[in-house]
Amino acid sequence: MTTLTVDQLRAAIERELPGVRADLEALVRIPGIAFDGFDFAPLERSAQAVADLLRGVGLEVEVSRIGDGHPAVIGRRPAPPGAPTVLLYAHHDVQPVGDLSKWESDPFEPTERDGRLYGRGAADDKAGVMAHVAALRAFGCGTSDDRLPLGVVVFIEGEEEFGSDSLPELLAKHRQELAADVIVIADSGNWDIGVPALTTSLRGIVNSFVDVQVLHSAVHSGMYGGPVPDALTVLCRLLATLHDDNGDVAVPGLVSKPASPLDYPEDRYRAEAGILDGVELIGTGRIVDRMWTKPSLSVLGIDAPRTAEAPNALVPSARAKLSMRLAPGDDPKSAFQALQAHLEKHIPWGAKVTFELEHDGNPCVIDATGKYFDAARAAFTTAWDGTEPVEIGVGGSIPFIATFQEVYPEASILVTGVEDPNAKAHGPNESLHLGEFARVCLAEALLLHNVAEAAKS
Ligand code: BES
Ligand code: MN
Repeated sequence: MTTLTVDQLRAAIERELPGVRADLEALVRIPGIAFDGFDFAPLERSAQAVADLLRGVGLEVEVSRIGDGHPAVIGRRPAPPGAPTVLLYAHHDVQPVGDLSKWESDPFEPTERDGRLYGRGAADDKAGVMAHVAALRAFGCGTSDDRLPLGVVVFIEGEEEFGSDSLPELLAKHRQELAADVIVIADSGNWDIGVPALTTSLRGIVNSFVDVQVLHSAVHSGMYGGPVPDALTVLCRLLATLHDDNGDVAVPGLVSKPASPLDYPEDRYRAEAGILDGVELIGTGRIVDRMWTKPSLSVLGIDAPRTAEAPNALVPSARAKLSMRLAPGDDPKSAFQALQAHLEKHIPWGAKVTFELEHDGNPCVIDATGKYFDAARAAFTTAWDGTEPVEIGVGGSIPFIATFQEVYPEASILVTGVEDPNAKAHGPNESLHLGEFARVCLAEALLLHNVAEAAKS
């Protein structure tokens, strides 16, 4: 078998892009959300759509799940003798869309505006799925002129956005089939438009609920108001203890350390996050420290009477959802205990407060040295016309990575992805930069090529 050259791969990606784009749009039209309370039927359809795509590139495909967990799709082809195997990861489930009125076009009707494709999952992470498919198509996989020089396992998870609960068991169940020399996780992003990145640190996560109860039921706020601490006031006081006066997380015992020397100017951060003029940034340290290697603690939601319907009554109970992000090196179990201990210590006025862990996930750091990381850096540099990738951290979490590091300690884990600073993953008007997506697809094809070459050395 003659191997494809860089120029041939470039031409092949060019040739495949229209079809890849059409298949991406078809995936975006399927609203597969793994959150409790959603209709799970679309997840089955999106797993089938992914399975068809993987069969189309000649893989042997299995849809797999643990118990009543959501469907993951695994596609495989063995390595030629002596060649390495690469595992390609992405997820086909997406985040809920939130307030529909904030979307400029239907989240599940992919729409192009100014070089970007808008839709829930257009970036996170259906474009990750399609980058893998694009790279395999570029090698002619599934055609009579198939020149893929290595083995691949494609693993497309169906519940990443809901905490990957089945993942450890899926890994245990498919431990042999998923074994690989190199793991490509296309679920992060690049540093900027035109500047590629390899992600080498991710934060962990602890999502939990706090419940406050003070009365058996609501009572007249005028008749009894005064001596009774209402549940919302208690909850607000409690939540106010989460940060110190500087805005740093006040929970003792969490890991905190400096991040990489990359500079992320404050005005860039403000603009990308969309912070209103006059609103101060909280916490101390450089922006990258605060985003990547210090803990953060946010209140994601509160269950309480809606203002429009709130009667003149004292609120008997209230519930908040908290999300804590953890620095690499921290441990979600002990961090949740630390959070709980901190809140218990600050309960005002003898209120009844209970805690519940929703889900957690480990942080990770990746040592990006060795021939496969060099192969990736060279691939990125070529795909971005000479611009070398920077090593970045991200504040988000992919608990999957730590699990994989434990199970396959020898594998090189390359965290790539399609997100750019304007992707708005998880928010309204999520989108994919189509020009960068083309580079991501090319980079992945070149990466497979380079990994096969590097294995020979
Ligand atoms: N793709 C993100 C992870 C990510 C976030 C990468 C920001 C790069 C930048 C992933 O899909 C995600 O959102 N993960 C969840 C994990 C959670 C549900 C355990 C997250 O970070 O909220
Ligand atoms: Mn994702």
